[in-house]
Amino acid sequence: MNTQPTLPAIDAGRLPELVRALPKAELHMHIEGSLEPELIFALAQRNKVQIPYADVESLRRAYAFTDLQSFLDIYYAGASVLLTEQDFYDMAWAYLERAKADNVVHTEMFFDPQTHTARGVPMRTVIDGLHRACTDAGAQLGVSAVLILCFLRHLSEEDAFATLEQALPHRDKFIGVGLDSSEVGHPPEKFARVFARCRELGLHLVAHAGEEGPPAYVWSALDVLKVERIDHGVQSSKDPALMKRLAEQRVPLTVCPLSNLKLCVFPDLAAHNIRSLLDAGLVATINSDDPAYFGGYMNENWVQTFAATSLTAAHAWQLAANSFEASFIDAPARRAYMEQLQATFERFAAAA
Ligand code: HPA
Ligand code: ZN
Repeated sequence: MNTQPTLPAIDAGRLPELVRALPKAELHMHIEGSLEPELIFALAQRNKVQIPYADVESLRRAYAFTDLQSFLDIYYAGASVLLTEQDFYDMAWAYLERAKADNVVHTEMFFDPQTHTARGVPMRTVIDGLHRACTDAGAQLGVSAVLILCFLRHLSEEDAFATLEQALPHRDKFIGVGLDSSEVGHPPEKFARVFARCRELGLHLVAHAGEEGPPAYVWSALDVLKVERIDHGVQSSKDPALMKRLAEQRVPLTVCPLSNLKLCVFPDLAAHNIRSLLDAGLVATINSDDPAYFGGYMNENWVQTFAATSLTAAHAWQLAANSFEASFIDAPARRAYMEQLQATFERFAAAA
């Protein structure tokens, strides 16, 4: 657990500048959700794939979502332009350059292989392209990047098992598995056996739960799937016993404020519960989810959330510290990032 050190005083007016400058880890982003409309059109042209939008502007105009499903329909259509290893590399590289610009020092990127293998794209093509970008990000950008394979929960557990089989020859190129796509009606326990198998294989386990679904889905992600982190989890605040469990066991929540806003989980950012999650002692973090679709990458999520919810400099430290506590990194890396965080705070205060 990260106990907050004595922090130098920082004027509230400098908070946007501070949160942009902080080193941080991003733990909840879907790489297919970083496909900008310009890249979708460029790849559609390169691969001679038809997409049902005339131009970049009309595609962007379609990004008016009412709930998770209305987003997923467009998100899967956008991903249909990805065919070659180079396409997957280009998509991931574009994100990693933006992550670097936002002072993201470590990122754990989700990918949805079933979206691609169902179109006949080989698993190897997907994983090799994404993994090559991760390797280059370490060497060329100084950004540490790893992959988490997500199962699509609207498909069957049998399909998830087949996907796992196809991915296992590439076991060294991803660190864990997750669960995403349409939540309500597809509870975590639908994937009990495949997660048990992944656990035996030593993979890290995470799952989306409590985005639109009830607290019961967060309980079963913890108790049945035995996940180490909950993705979203914002509905947990409806269940005091669950809040207590999450705080006591320090189960991180990877919260995505702009995603929640765009998918109408909260009516506006000022109504978001991130501050109450933090103040209840939960290991909450801020992440971008699908930045090309939801109006912003990491720093945009931080700056807009701080502006709307009156979070303080102390919360900024906590959120960054939480991101490193929640990361699947080793202890020396965590210590080094925490030192970087402290040094950034002090440099910032000294420059006042
Ligand atoms: N929720 C569920 N599935 C997803 C999401 C999300 O926020 N983004 C991409 N797939
Ligand atoms: Zn997500």
